[in-house]
Amino acid sequence: MSNRAQEHFGERYGGEGAAPRFEQWNEVIEGLLGHRSVRRYTQKPLPEGTLEVLVAAAQSAPSSSNLQLWSVLSVQDPERRRRLAELAGGQAHVRDCGLFLVWLADLRRLGDLASHRGVGHEGLDYLEMFVMGVVDAALAAQNALVAAESLGLGTVYIGALRNHPEAVAAELGLPSQVFATFGLCVGWPDPATPASIKPRLSQEVVLHHERYGAFERSVGALDAYDRLMERFYAKERMGVQGSWSRHSAARVASAQALRGRDRLRAALSSMGFGLR
Ligand SMILES: Cc1cc2nc3c(=O)[nH]c(=O)nc-3n(C[C@H](O)[C@H](O)[C@H](O)COP(=O)(O)O)c2cc1C
Repeated sequence: MSNRAQEHFGERYGGEGAAPRFEQWNEVIEGLLGHRSVRRYTQKPLPEGTLEVLVAAAQSAPSSSNLQLWSVLSVQDPERRRRLAELAGGQAHVRDCGLFLVWLADLRRLGDLASHRGVGHEGLDYLEMFVMGVVDAALAAQNALVAAESLGLGTVYIGALRNHPEAVAAELGLPSQVFATFGLCVGWPDPATPASIKPRLSQEVVLHHERYGAFERSVGALDAYDRLMERFYAKERMGVQGSWSRHSAARVASAQALRGRDRLRAALSSMGFGLR
């Protein structure tokens, strides 16, 4: 029985709605419900072996047909970190974290293996295989994140690596058909700037039963979430202007709002992905 897990449940929904009656609260659920992204780190080194343990946790994730269409790249060189931080829109935590991992959708290894065995690999040119690589990479990364958090480490994903996919690929020496899906910062959280659990949409919005429910059923709960997040932004001094729905909608208002990622398909084509 973990009371902390139940507390985290409450915080996850901004204190609105009680945790369900449930006998099996445990430390794994406590860890998952307690997640928060960390963007400020101390310079204290990570324990020896951390990288290998995180990669083992990542490799323990399920993988479509066990094809293992992903790889991970650890970047420690300070100059390379600095350049990646700039490519990711000037995110200082990419530079300052203890470990920076780039999670790769990697179709190349299977292509090379097929060639090595003297068989074709036309199947890799299909969108399905790209999706498989991205899904595998994401599941692996999330396992590493959960393992890191269980050690008291902080983490934050860096999707902004996709702002400049070709430049990131050049910086990391990625061959064709290898795509940097996102980065992950890992490090000791700076106790001077603790991160809080960020509330999520209520379950009535995201959880459907049997058949997909119409948007209209969620309008009231979405309004309530906006009010909740406004209080959260103010409490955390996040400087976010407007409501969650306003800035979420703004993120998809136009191609320009994707901040360079609107040309991802073209970038992927130039990087050797068929996406047929
Ligand atoms: C795929 C992915 C990419 C992300 N990219 C960034 C990023 O580039 N920079 C950043 O500060 N946070 C990034 N985040 C973190 C999200 O902003 C964060 O998960 C979200 O605001 C929820 O907050 P929480 O993780 O603290 O619960 C990313 C998260 C995911 C899942």
